[in-house]
Amino acid sequence: MRIAVVTLFPVMIREALAHGVVGRAMERGVLEVEYFDPRDHATDVHRTVDDRPYGGGPGMVLKVEPLRTALRRAAATLPPGSRRVYLGADGRRFDQAVAREACGDRGLILVAGRYEGVDERCIERETDEQWSIGDYVLSGGELPALVVIDTIARLIPGTLGSAESAVQESFSDGLLDWPHYTRPPAIDGLAVPAVLMSGDHAAIQRWRLQQALGRTWLRRPELLERRGMSEEERVLLEEFKIERACRTDRIEDSKR
Ligand SMILES: C[S@@+](CC[C@H](N)C(=O)[O-])C[C@H]1O[C@@H](n2cnc3c(N)ncnc32)[C@H](O)[C@@H]1O
Repeated sequence: MRIAVVTLFPVMIREALAHGVVGRAMERGVLEVEYFDPRDHATDVHRTVDDRPYGGGPGMVLKVEPLRTALRRAAATLPPGSRRVYLGADGRRFDQAVAREACGDRGLILVAGRYEGVDERCIERETDEQWSIGDYVLSGGELPALVVIDTIARLIPGTLGSAESAVQESFSDGLLDWPHYTRPPAIDGLAVPAVLMSGDHAAIQRWRLQQALGRTWLRRPELLERRGMSEEERVLLEEFKIERACRTDRIEDSKR
């Protein structure tokens, strides 16, 4: 997959992507990321890319022309029909479902804003969608671009080895991930759940599903509501609730 980022700070993104599984995916050619800097298309001696907002107020706004030229260069370089996405706090919420939808595309163009944002006419005319990574405001679209690229990269076949499969991660089945443990088997009085060391793969799978259901019910009940549950999953969740209530009672008793 090819991704282009239109940004005033390509180095911020390039350096962060050079590490770990995404860095290896890029070395293997599974993912290619290209950069288009609006400043390269500024026409004045100061390479100006921003200007004061009409109507007054604080901050500056990214001007249409240099940004538009950079974006059009990106569009001409990437496969035809590549989705053009402006990253903005007021966009559609970027989540695993949006990432899954985008990872089937051959190309994706991400536009990272700066200052107070981007001239609205550029967003309207030159992009197809707006994505937000959450309900908070960052100083620029570079961190959102990294979040989007990393999330999508993990879903492209060939990025993760089977040992790191994305299939079993949080949100892949509408549930949060189950807890993970590694050696030693006990530390500071905390033991690894016995079932994980039992070698009984069916029991381990059952326990993991139960933990994923329980965690989602505790931490993100709206996800469970949206996803629904099979009859078997309902039984597992009921067991989880009972066990949790018993554990809470035991803790209360020990405090008395
Ligand atoms: C300081 S912000 C502009 C904030 C804008 N005035 C607002 O109130 O929504 C500068 C740039 O950061 C990026 N940005 C900030 N928060 C973001 C978020 N939650 N998701 C995606 N992009 C974000 C956008 O590209 C934006 O143009």
